[in-house]
Amino acid sequence: MQTLSQALKQAETNGVAVGHFNVSDLVLIRAVFEAARSLNLPVIVGASEGERAFMGVRQVASLVRSLREEYDFPIFLNADHTHSLRGALDAAAAGFDSVVFDLSRLPLEENIRQTRAAVEALKTARPDFLVEGEIGDIGSGSEIHDAAPDLKKGLTAPREAKQFVEETHIDVLAPAVGNMHGMLKSMAAGDTKKRLDIERIRAIKAETGIFMTLHGASGTDDGDLRAAIAAGMNIVHINTELRLAWRRGLDTALSDQPSEIVPYHILPPVVASIQRVVASRLALFNSAGARAEGASAR
Ligand code: G3H
Ligand code: ZN
Repeated sequence: MQTLSQALKQAETNGVAVGHFNVSDLVLIRAVFEAARSLNLPVIVGASEGERAFMGVRQVASLVRSLREEYDFPIFLNADHTHSLRGALDAAAAGFDSVVFDLSRLPLEENIRQTRAAVEALKTARPDFLVEGEIGDIGSGSEIHDAAPDLKKGLTAPREAKQFVEETHIDVLAPAVGNMHGMLKSMAAGDTKKRLDIERIRAIKAETGIFMTLHGASGTDDGDLRAAIAAGMNIVHINTELRLAWRRGLDTALSDQPSEIVPYHILPPVVASIQRVVASRLALFNSAGARAEGASAR
């Protein structure tokens, strides 16, 4: 069975990205898995601290592992946006493949000090466990926001990224490159799109040479996503778009079947509506355009 590290190397070679989709329940897990299986593409399921608290750390790990083993399929599990070493160690012990150890709110030197200590502790516990570190400001909350935060001052400088990577020994870097967690109302309506600083991505990749993750990708312009992957992004995170599909799908399913009380009659259309979003994002992240531009960018 392929490891996450091997899947990332393969994606890097092919100039494509592995899709990462956050889950809060079995409906979302099933939708992500079915979409990835229908396209025969590796996929990462993400669970943040809040999502893990709701589902259970060991329980979500068991569910994802059971899919991986029963279908012999490369579905991986990431402990998303984890703010404590204890939480990261618990996820490693439960069998997660990776963690986003996120101390990006701290000053750079303190972020470096604590992230380096976490890498040492986690690699001692599980040498195969991948650790992602984060610098810069991309806002918080995979929700619909009323207004955009001013993230310009928190953009990642390529030299700081190089220092961060060299001093922490992380496996994957999450930089701030114009991306933002969540969506504005206008994005949820499909009227506006997030735009990315592609040159900054290219410069950070050139300085660090490390695997990189694009967080906060919901509502991003399709062309910018392709260009970001071509410039060096290896993982792309989507959460808000799935939560939106979950909510809209559930509203529709309930109003279509006002008297139904059987969950497995109500929920399949919800799975299907989320699955469509995941499949379309996975297809984009693995599109020939990304591959062709990726080949010329390296
Ligand atoms: O870690 C999760 C993500 O970065 C998702 O961000 O809600 O904007 O898609 P998003
Ligand atoms: Zn994120």
